Amino acid sequence: MKHYKIAVLAGDGIGPEITQEALKVLKVIEERNDVTFELMPALFGACAYFETGDAFPQATIDICDQADAILKGPIGLSHEESKKIPVDKQPERGALLPMRRRYNTYANFRPVSLPKSLAHFSPLKPEIIGEGIDLIMVRELIGGLYFGDKERGINDKGLRYVRETLEYDEEQIRRIMHEAFKLASKRRKLLHNIHKSNVLLSSVLWNEVMEEVAKDYPDVEVVNYLVDSAATALCLKPTQFDVMVMENMFGDILSDQGGGVLGSLGLMPSACIGPEKAYYEPSHGSAPDIAGKNIANPYSMIGSVAMMLENSFDMAAEAKNVWASMQGVFADGYSTADLSKPGSGVTMISTVEFGDKVVEKLRQIPKV
Ligand code: IPM
Ligand code: MG
Repeated sequence: MKHYKIAVLAGDGIGPEITQEALKVLKVIEERNDVTFELMPALFGACAYFETGDAFPQATIDICDQADAILKGPIGLSHEESKKIPVDKQPERGALLPMRRRYNTYANFRPVSLPKSLAHFSPLKPEIIGEGIDLIMVRELIGGLYFGDKERGINDKGLRYVRETLEYDEEQIRRIMHEAFKLASKRRKLLHNIHKSNVLLSSVLWNEVMEEVAKDYPDVEVVNYLVDSAATALCLKPTQFDVMVMENMFGDILSDQGGGVLGSLGLMPSACIGPEKAYYEPSHGSAPDIAGKNIANPYSMIGSVAMMLENSFDMAAEAKNVWASMQGVFADGYSTADLSKPGSGVTMISTVEFGDKVVEKLRQIPKV
């Protein structure tokens, strides 16, 4: 019997509601497999700040340190509410970035997956979606502008100025490239390298290292794309992409655009993987406007569980079953109010009902 410890950080806003549904799915995985999960809940985000004065308190750090994997809900507050917290203690700077740094989670995988059962959510025309969109963005997660030196002051003209630095060394680029090429080798053997080498020197080095790493993967075709042009292509012909690799800031922006292509960031789970520890989280924020209403779709959180099963617990087949269950619920014509409008031909169900239906579907899938 395998035994895994999971730190469960439900987070802020809709986080606790959607986490609850993800945990139901984990329970079914336990029933169906020779595995037990020890859940270790901990405070993280604005909720942790208001309770302890710290968005990533020591007690949470200790729990995450001990965990085999971390399941993390969305964090953050509305723009207005955020102002109640000092800038450096706010959940993004005070919890999320320190977590990424602590566990060196340099590889961020963000699937943008739109099978036919979800096609009606997308704002794109059916002829653009074709047989469906199935791509993964591989985002470098702990370098670049996010983590570079920052300085703010008054310059010699007496003007307020700011300087943020974008730094990568070749090793940081090489390791994310290997992740992207390995993934591409397992899929369509096609890698889109996203860069801005017509302006940024960082992209020149990025591309140089990419070409060196490419030699280890001769069967993977590389297509180079400027980031701005990739943004257009994602809307006009998203089906051309399979694996896309990019630096941190580009990945932040393009992955949200991926959510737009799907019709909602609520359909975007993600995996953040480091050499020793991985954490799994929805790509979206905490949606404070709909928190507590039982209308948020738990897809991104349950999808994060699927990614955890595959990447941390070597349970790829069950991960696939979890995806199929969620997509099956949509295919049966159900949706939640955050994703669909009344009268759009779907039967509206709550967060909890969606979780229940996923669980029901999963139980029906035979275990091989
Ligand atoms: C994401 C988020 C974070 C990021 C924020 C919350 C700091 O937007 O995971 O994409 O910018 O990386
Ligand atoms: Mg983002």
